[in-house]
Formats: sequence, structure tokens, C-alpha cells
Amino acid sequence: MELREFADRVLGSETLEEKLRTVRGGFTDCEPGPAERIALPARPESLRFCQPRQAPPMPHLLSLGEPRRRGIAHHIMANHELQALEVMAFVLRAFPEAPSEFRLGLARVMCDEQRHTRLHAERGAELGVPFGSLPVNGYFWAKAQEFAEVLDYLAGLPLTFEGGNLDHTLEFEAAFREAGDTRGGDIMRAIHHDEIEHVAFGWRWLQRLKPAGQSEWDAYVAHLHWPLRPSKSRGRVFHREPRQAAGLSPEFIARLEADDPEEPAPPGA
Ligand SMILES: [Fe+2]
Ligand SMILES: [Fe+2]
Repeated sequence: MELREFADRVLGSETLEEKLRTVRGGFTDCEPGPAERIALPARPESLRFCQPRQAPPMPHLLSLGEPRRRGIAHHIMANHELQALEVMAFVLRAFPEAPSEFRLGLARVMCDEQRHTRLHAERGAELGVPFGSLPVNGYFWAKAQEFAEVLDYLAGLPLTFEGGNLDHTLEFEAAFREAGDTRGGDIMRAIHHDEIEHVAFGWRWLQRLKPAGQSEWDAYVAHLHWPLRPSKSRGRVFHREPRQAAGLSPEFIARLEADDPEEPAPPGA
């Protein structure tokens, strides 16, 4: 399947089934087409982005003994995964001139995001919270609108949101297992495992696309758009091992770890 066709299917289909439809037979990138920035992805009515603060907040980790609270957590995470998929499709359409090797690699990551969305949606439904039964926000999608080049994408999504998810997935795995929810724990572990490869993908392409002579850290920071910042790329507990497994350099990991997650906003921001 052509990448452009795949991206259009993800962005233009109004049913979840179509957006998550598995691609058989691999991808080609013969006709990337003209650059186009899609303003809003099509979604079923129940999953359209709501106004800020209308969506329920992520339940506190200590409340996850309650099945419905775990269902809400899966619902929120399913929407995160779906947005990751849509943002990647946005990147395929917005940057047709990017190297085909990058674009084909991105499509492989998208197949993982389709699977992750399904895992969370199915588990949420099992816990009494079907996907689409609660309002969902469009936070990640809104951030993607600011990506002016592929390096902005790499800094924002793989190296910040997916980087932070290396910690968040472990936090939720532990909380679900603590609640006796083995299935939920297994889902978080599987996603954690995939996320290491997604961060590695972002890291490799940051190295390839950044200006020669600029450090990875400087390139990363230069391409983050406020309020995205390095402290958003970590959870409350910082895990070094998955970042090492993703191939991040010791210097980069040390800079991330030293960043204070509670840093105040700069004046005027
Ligand atoms: Fe994912
Ligand atoms: Fe991912």
C-alpha cells in the first residue's frame, strides 16, 4: 500500500475500524504527493476532540483498584495512541520530501500504534468503559500543528511524548498489577517494549537529520515548541534502562534525568 493512501485512510475515515485496519502486504512510497497539512482528522462522532478540560483527567494511580477507574485510564490511553497514529499520518502528508526510509519506518511504527489503540480500547470495554463513551481531548494533535519540519516532529513526539511514555508505561504496569489486573499489566509491558523501538527510531533520525556539529541535546531542545520541554519526556520516576535500550547517549540521558519535572513556566509563557 502507498504511504499516502495509508495516511489518508487514517486521517479521512470516520470509523475506528477503518482507521485501525491492518495493512497487508507492506508499504511503498512511489507517489508521496504534494505537501498538505491536514487540520483535523476525521473521527466517529463519539471520538471527536472536545474542548479543553471537558475530558476526564487521568485517574490517580492509587485509585486503580477500582475497575471503572482502570477502564477510564485505558480510554484515555486509547485516545493517546489514536492521536499518535493520526499525528504520524499528518507527518506523512505534511513532509512528502522526507527520506523514504524515514517515511517507511514511520509507517511501521503506525502499525504498532494501531495495535496499541485496539489493546486499550478492548480492555477499556471489558472494564465497562467502551472507547467513545467519554469525551476525548486533542492535545497531541494540537501540538503537531506546530511541526514545521521533521526535526520538530522527532523532538516533540518520539523524543518527548514517547520518551515520557517509557516511564509512564512502567508506572501503570505496576499500578495495574498491584490491583491484581494481570491483563492490564501485560498490555502496559507490551506497549513499553514497543515504545523503546519508537524512541530508538526518533533518536536515529535526529542523529541523521540534525546539522553536523550540533549535539543531539542542542538539536532536541532547539526543535521543541513550548510548552513542550525536556521535563515532559519523563515520568515521576526516571528509568535509565529503557533509554539505554533505545540507544540514547549517556550524555543525553544524563541531561534528561537532571531536568526538573516541576520546573516553572518561563515568564510570559
Ligand atoms: Fe503506542
Ligand atoms: Fe509509540
